[in-house]
Amino acid sequence: MATLSTLPPQLQSALDSLSPELRGHIQRVRVIARGLAEEHRLDRDRVDLGAAAHDIARGDSDDVLMAEALAGGVRITDADRSRPILLHGPVGANRLRDRLLVTDEAVVEAVYWHTTGLATMGPIAKVVFLADKFDLAKASRYPHIERVKELAADDMDRAIIEFLRGDMVRLLNEDELVHPGSLETVNGLLLAIQRR
Ligand SMILES: [Fe+2]
Repeated sequence: MATLSTLPPQLQSALDSLSPELRGHIQRVRVIARGLAEEHRLDRDRVDLGAAAHDIARGDSDDVLMAEALAGGVRITDADRSRPILLHGPVGANRLRDRLLVTDEAVVEAVYWHTTGLATMGPIAKVVFLADKFDLAKASRYPHIERVKELAADDMDRAIIEFLRGDMVRLLNEDELVHPGSLETVNGLLLAIQRR
């Protein structure tokens, strides 16, 4: 197994308070993210920090997420109101910066956008976004994930587009609201690819 970094103590204690299921998911995502970081020649420790922190707010109640999102100036869409759990990335990122004193903006960005993506996010955020989806425990939710994995080896932008496309179709088929941020990410990445 890949060696994982030692985390800042404030972050480690925040992680220790999460459920065993979440801690298991986070550990698996850290290992996957480290592998992707190596493939894409990125700083493994910064990627690892983003992966370790990405779900720090995932165990919070809808009320807490909504209150912290409002206080933290997060854009709240109809999709977030319908499923406040979608706010755990932005809320976790604000908490990371404001309370856990993580100053690496690429890491904060990775946590903030790991659910919807952001077209302009940097490579560290792209790795964290994808590694989160590659956790095998999520495989049944994402039947298109093998295609996403194939794409991720060469082109993270195309992999993220493919993931979001499949996920938006799934949500629409289940009569769930699609987050406009996901569609904005797909549009922005498609434009970026066309301009390469
Ligand atoms: Fe998450």
